[in-house]
Amino acid sequence: MTSNRRVVLLAGDGIGPEVAGEALRVVDWLDRRRSVGFDLSEAQVGGAAYDATGHPLPDSTLEAARAADAVLLGAVGGPRWDSLDFSLRPERAILGLRKSLDLFANLRPAKVFDALSDASSLKADVLRGLDLMIIRELTGGIYFGEPRGVETLPDGTRRGVNTEVYTTPEIRRVGAVAFELARERQGKVHSVEKANVMESGGLWREEIQTLRDADYADVDLHHMYADNCAMQLVRDPHQFDVVVTSNLFGDLLSDISAQLTGSLGMLPSASLGAPGPGGTRAALYEPVHGSAPDIAGEGKANPIAMVLSLAMLLRHSLDQDEDAELIEQAVGNVLDRGLRTADILQPGFTAVSTEDMGRAICAELDRLAA
Ligand code: IPM
Ligand code: MG
Repeated sequence: MTSNRRVVLLAGDGIGPEVAGEALRVVDWLDRRRSVGFDLSEAQVGGAAYDATGHPLPDSTLEAARAADAVLLGAVGGPRWDSLDFSLRPERAILGLRKSLDLFANLRPAKVFDALSDASSLKADVLRGLDLMIIRELTGGIYFGEPRGVETLPDGTRRGVNTEVYTTPEIRRVGAVAFELARERQGKVHSVEKANVMESGGLWREEIQTLRDADYADVDLHHMYADNCAMQLVRDPHQFDVVVTSNLFGDLLSDISAQLTGSLGMLPSASLGAPGPGGTRAALYEPVHGSAPDIAGEGKANPIAMVLSLAMLLRHSLDQDEDAELIEQAVGNVLDRGLRTADILQPGFTAVSTEDMGRAICAELDRLAA
């Protein structure tokens, strides 16, 4: 038996608590049936935390996240909090967690399950068997660069500023994550920037190439402009294995890659810090979808992205690859049997609720582990 691992669950807002409930169902299954033991606690984040404490990321939540082996997050945000000052918006909690825990590498896999290859708005033959990984730099770039802000000019008009900035170490550490991962996959990396118009993009390209030549000569490296990458992702996504890019371009490109899989409701993510002594690293796992306030509380949300985020947690933070694969297999089998939440429902399939989907995944886990 391995000792219990500390996981903090931050359910958050909107559909966050609903999908978190289904992840908990799977955690409970793992607790009963597998060797990994969870020491799971919950804390508040986002709008819910703001309502309770006046801040979207209370110190107690940040402390709990710091002390944990991994954080599992549902979603934050909603129209109720949209008029708050920028510094108090629920989204600041996610950005605060990323920055405070130095989670610089965001892994966003886009894998098309066979059963869903015709669920996307794109043609099935373009998508069948697709398995790519976007690695988004997560603690730098224009999201955090200084100067930033809005100022009023002498003539009364206003000026808004954000700054794209990257340094050598920031580029190299996320590049290394991409090259390492490519070695375990198909050995191919596309580095994406706008070196044709941005100095920071030119630096990005040079540093990634230097890193590859020095330490990863066995990996096949391609450079691509971000606008072309957006187009290539919908034209011929099979050309990609690992894509590494900046914070802002990664935000955009990962939404595109999400749609390739049929629904944003299918996509998990991992945000990782640097490996520390003993190989542990700070890590946060969350579905790529947001809080979807329009369907919150209706049992319509797809819990698969959240359940697959738990699988990523098992793989990347707890070294439980076998359990991760079991969960991914169970999700695939449930989809093969035709069960669909509203976001991926097509004629001829069985519509199920959030809870039904969670229960079906656990029933399938029972079968697989029997
Ligand atoms: C994402 C989201 C976030 C981002 C928001 C909610 C702050 O879009 O994780 O992709 O822009 O990074
Ligand atoms: Mg986004």
